[in-house]
Amino acid sequence: MVGVILAGVSGRTGREVGRAVVAAPDLRLVGALGHGSVGRDAGEAMGMAPLGVPIAATLPAFPPPEGTVYVDFTRADAARANVPTALAMGLPAVVGTTGFDARDLEAFESAARAAGVGVCVIANFALGAALTARLSALVVDVFPDVEIVELHGSHKRDRPSGTAAALAADLAGRRPGGREVPVHSVRLPGLVAHQEVLFGRPGELITLRHDVFSREAYTQGVLLAIRRVGRLRGLVTRLEEVWEGA
Ligand SMILES: NC(=O)c1ccc[n+]([C@@H]2O[C@H](COP(=O)([O-])OP(=O)(O)OC[C@H]3O[C@@H](n4cnc5c(N)ncnc54)[C@H](OP(=O)(O)O)[C@@H]3O)[C@@H](O)[C@H]2O)c1
Repeated sequence: MVGVILAGVSGRTGREVGRAVVAAPDLRLVGALGHGSVGRDAGEAMGMAPLGVPIAATLPAFPPPEGTVYVDFTRADAARANVPTALAMGLPAVVGTTGFDARDLEAFESAARAAGVGVCVIANFALGAALTARLSALVVDVFPDVEIVELHGSHKRDRPSGTAAALAADLAGRRPGGREVPVHSVRLPGLVAHQEVLFGRPGELITLRHDVFSREAYTQGVLLAIRRVGRLRGLVTRLEEVWEGA
């Protein structure tokens, strides 16, 4: 049984992840963190029956039992503090929160290495996003002129999205001269999470489009990472590395 401490349990994504954890026979929600919802029962915050797990403001002072994983779907400013704390307690971490820069990732990597545990910081847990990245790497070798359009609901704080930024960096590395890949961000009410990768050549165009219509899209990837992060060491930023590497 893998215990899960979930930060952001009452958030839009955290609720979906929490419900999937509760439904999984091999996982158990053992702790929850939040901000405005501190003190509420985690089950009630997810729209379920009470679980007897109160939402706390900070990680417990005592180390949780071995096999516990810390999961974070909050905000970058909160995760910058909580993720290194969890790692220093020896908890492997699965981080879905976005908005980190290279320095943040280095800090997570060194905290994980110092504790001898793994930290998965994955900007998009949807399996379709990982496949889009794979297919894009194939196409860019033949169609090196590429631009990315990412479209999200108006509530999304960071731009460009972590997914688009990571894909742009990958594709730039494969283009002649490492030329930067432009990313265009759209924020409009009604959108969920969508991405188009457009590859142009004279007279032809390839478009790879991935649409997320509900947050259910992320849960399978998150559960996979929760189950496997205990076998990883240091920083992992790609879902493919989780499913192939463990
Ligand atoms: N990697 C992926 O596949 C993926 C997919 C979807 C979203 N995301 C990312 O996940 C994050 C959350 O997105 P969302 O749409 O679910 O946001 P949201 O609905 O606004 O939820 C944010 C959550 O963060 C919690 N929070 C805020 N400040 C906190 C603090 N200081 N300590 C602990 N918890 C705190 C809030 O708790 P209270 O409710 O208690 O205030 C809330 O539960 C964003 O960074 C988003 O980009 C990633």
